[in-house]
Amino acid sequence: MDRGKLFAKLILTLLNLLHGPHPGLCQNLPVDMMHLGNMHSDPHHDDFMPTMMPKFISRGNLYKVTTGDMVTLPCRVQNLGTFVLLWRRGSSVLTAGPLMITRDSRFKLVDTYDLQINGVKTQDAGDYICQIGDQETRDQVHTLEILVPPSVRAVPQNGQVTARKGSTVTLECKASGNPVPSIYWYKKDPLAGATHLSDSSTLILEQVERQHAGVYQCAADNGVREPVSADVQLTVLSPPEITVEKSWVHASEGYDVELACTVHGDTGSEMNWFQNSFLLDPTDRRTMHTLGEQHTMLIRNFQTTDFGNYSCVADNALGRTKKYIEVSGRPGPATFLSPAYTGQLDIYNLTWKIESIPPLDEVRLLYRKLLMNDTYQHPGKWNDVVMVPTTTRSEPNHFIMSFLITGLEKNSVYEAIIQAKNRYGWNEISDIHQFYTRNSEEADDADFIMSSISLAAGCIDWGGYGVRLLLPMAAVLHRQWIITE
Ligand SMILES: *[C@@H]1O[C@H](CO)[C@@H](O)[C@H](O)[C@H]1NC(C)=O
Ligand SMILES: *[C@@H]1O[C@H](CO)[C@@H](O)[C@H](O)[C@H]1NC(C)=O
Ligand SMILES: *[C@@H]1O[C@H](CO)[C@@H](O)[C@H](O)[C@H]1NC(C)=O
Repeated sequence: MDRGKLFAKLILTLLNLLHGPHPGLCQNLPVDMMHLGNMHSDPHHDDFMPTMMPKFISRGNLYKVTTGDMVTLPCRVQNLGTFVLLWRRGSSVLTAGPLMITRDSRFKLVDTYDLQINGVKTQDAGDYICQIGDQETRDQVHTLEILVPPSVRAVPQNGQVTARKGSTVTLECKASGNPVPSIYWYKKDPLAGATHLSDSSTLILEQVERQHAGVYQCAADNGVREPVSADVQLTVLSPPEITVEKSWVHASEGYDVELACTVHGDTGSEMNWFQNSFLLDPTDRRTMHTLGEQHTMLIRNFQTTDFGNYSCVADNALGRTKKYIEVSGRPGPATFLSPAYTGQLDIYNLTWKIESIPPLDEVRLLYRKLLMNDTYQHPGKWNDVVMVPTTTRSEPNHFIMSFLITGLEKNSVYEAIIQAKNRYGWNEISDIHQFYTRNSEEADDADFIMSSISLAAGCIDWGGYGVRLLLPMAAVLHRQWIITE
């Protein structure tokens, strides 16, 4: 075909394309095309034409490019001669020969005919065709895939989720990017770091407690650039929760007494102190302090009228919670210091501690053998020992006493309780203390160790008989005490 005619046809094709709805195309093309026409009227090239056909020396390829980056799509041709090389995208012509047709300034020709795209956008995805208008050589097609770094946002956008205690909460994040990002959930913990919780776009928390409150984080990752994350703050609404370190406080006239309550989690609650259901206000002897969740009340120069049942009462929108602290002058309940097994056949050295500011007036020990086998589970009779209390204080306000119990049977389980009295009265009965004696002179120590372990667990297997700790006996005994007083 005549070279001049071919070129004219090409320009016509081009002009046809320009009249179509292709916004990226240059409108004042014809002037420049005249110049192109002059360029190609060189008669020498006509002679080469039959022997040297144009040929691509680059190859069509898939390019994966991250948004914002730059990509160069190669188009290398041997023996182009007077043919005009076009870059097309669909039916839009981007370049013709050395000429930029598209007005998008991000496109550039480099190294003669390589198409460079700067700052790629998601819309740039698709096929780019490098075309030699010779109607023989196949087009070269490059495919551009745009990788989009992940983005993520919490639902709702402000990242604030509020739930009532006991309800089920669904935390959600929406992520986008190419490829589709994976989402991971973590709980941010200032002490333990992040705890990984879920690999899905939602995180479901059932039966939420106050402890579930905090900052959760969803992270989205698709391998393009760094993962990104969004925070969700979960607030759990619940009635106030109160803990008291000591629900029984020992006091005596003239002393200073401090009571403490911790109101957890909820800063929106109001805390008040009561004594025997009367609301307490600060006085010259009584001051209240709040430090974070910790509420304390200091009573100076304690008076007889100050004894009683105190309570901390916290209110918030969801309810009221109350915890009692008894302030008493009576001795505290005895706590036992001696181990359950001392390796003795017939004696046991029982040691205990009692809190009391005034001296102790009377101390009583009760102990008995537990007679138990499969059919017969009645404990023996109580041995009642009235003691002269020690006057030596082990530490401020505490008395430590010992009593050597003799005449015990070998290979037996015993239990003991202690009661003490000062000028304010008898204390609460102690917990039951269980102890046991050695099997025989030749006993294998290992047996005792085994028994000791199971005893600690609250149930012992003694000589093949199932022996249970009969703790409810203490309640029965306490009633008898009151009757005999
Ligand atoms: C304190 O008073 C409350 C309400 O009357 C009662 O339930 C609680 O058992 C009392 N506590 C003590 C230690 O007396
Ligand atoms: C009993 O134990 C206590 C405390 O370990 C000790 O002070 C006391 O002397 C012991 N009594 C006897 C009789 O061994
Ligand atoms: C259980 O103990 C009672 C009282 O000591 C005794 O009479 C009875 O024979 C014992 N039964 C068994 C199975 O050892």
